[in-house]
Amino acid sequence: MAASRRVVSGMRPTGALHLGHYHGVLKNWVRLQHEYESFYFVADWHALTTVYEDTAVIAASVLDMVVDWLAVGLNPGEATLFIQSRVPEHAELHLLLSMITPLGWLERVPSYKDQQEKLAGRDLSTYGFLGYPLLQTADVLCYKAGFVPVGEDQVAHIELSREVARRFNFLYGREPGYEQKAEAAVKKLGRKNATLYNDLRRQYLETGDAAALEKARALIDARRNISLGDRERLLGHLEGGGKVILPEPHPLLTHASKVPGLDGEKMSKSYNNTISLREDPEVVEKKLRTMPTDPARVRRSDPGDPDKCPVWKFHEIYSGDEVKKWVQRGCRSAGIGCLECKQPVIDAVLKELKPIRERSLEYQRDPDNVRAILDKGCEKARDVARETLEDVREAMGLVYR
Ligand code: TRP
Ligand code: SF4
Repeated sequence: MAASRRVVSGMRPTGALHLGHYHGVLKNWVRLQHEYESFYFVADWHALTTVYEDTAVIAASVLDMVVDWLAVGLNPGEATLFIQSRVPEHAELHLLLSMITPLGWLERVPSYKDQQEKLAGRDLSTYGFLGYPLLQTADVLCYKAGFVPVGEDQVAHIELSREVARRFNFLYGREPGYEQKAEAAVKKLGRKNATLYNDLRRQYLETGDAAALEKARALIDARRNISLGDRERLLGHLEGGGKVILPEPHPLLTHASKVPGLDGEKMSKSYNNTISLREDPEVVEKKLRTMPTDPARVRRSDPGDPDKCPVWKFHEIYSGDEVKKWVQRGCRSAGIGCLECKQPVIDAVLKELKPIRERSLEYQRDPDNVRAILDKGCEKARDVARETLEDVREAMGLVYR
């Protein structure tokens, strides 16, 4: 499979997974595993960038997190599941990239100042915290991934990854005799395709015509018999640069429905408003029954406004049109009570979590199986990352024989 059909994404092991993770991230990962060659990893080093003082929560969450991944339907036969720190190539690439990354690029990443302010209780004026988007860059570039499924808040990080990849290719992609090698690769396309390639290339370089660039890339993609080196040369040459050693990744925006927390805010462990994927059914029921509603509905006879009620946001995710209509009418006319209104949500959440809980229990009973899955995943990830690092070291002139 071409590298561009590959996705990479990571998740920090910082506690129990909840419905927010499920709807915001995991459902998307499960879907993508069928369409892309997927690499999903436990970002334990990333967790260290903020919770370096007490690492116990990391160790306690790693295996549980993978159990939950498997329970929601990530299939180790399709997706590669692994742990970041078991693939030391991430660290090596991070270090090498750190040499060419201007400090200003990292200081400008919006999450840097935001997070420092948000997590004001922790001392985040560390080297690791500043560099964490670069570590994320290494996570992605290690696999030459074409796409990174992320939320809106992470798009700036992918943008940084693109800039760093471009800078790397610019600095180290110029092997001696590059132009001649690129031209020889063009000739190998055959007369007709070579002419087409050259025309499209000129069109792109002269006018910035993105469609021409896409067409030329498709032309290269469609030819299965080109060697990897020639392929990289042809791609790099298209954009007027050198060999593309580290391709630029693209964000794959998760158009996920956001589950609110029980209080209507974002669902998050630190707000104490979560329903975890392993929650007991009785607890799920109790949490939903006691969650707040539109404060204007003091008495059963007071009409309410679903727009001011966190329960409505659950209906938006879990209920069909009929039920939604019933809520809208019943709430505004005080025709239904809040407990009545919550019942379809309670039923839907319980129904959703039941098979997840069952599968999760199965994996919890057999941790050796989970460890074996991870061992295999780590090995597979490492094979890919090792190859990338060989290319990287060679391009940088770090191979001494
Ligand atoms: N930074 C992400 C987060 O905090 C996790 C992450 C680490 C990641 N490395 C990644 C996501 C690589 C996508 C790709 O949620
Ligand atoms: Fe919220 Fe439903 Fe009560 Fe209206 S009836 S306030 S939507 S819980």
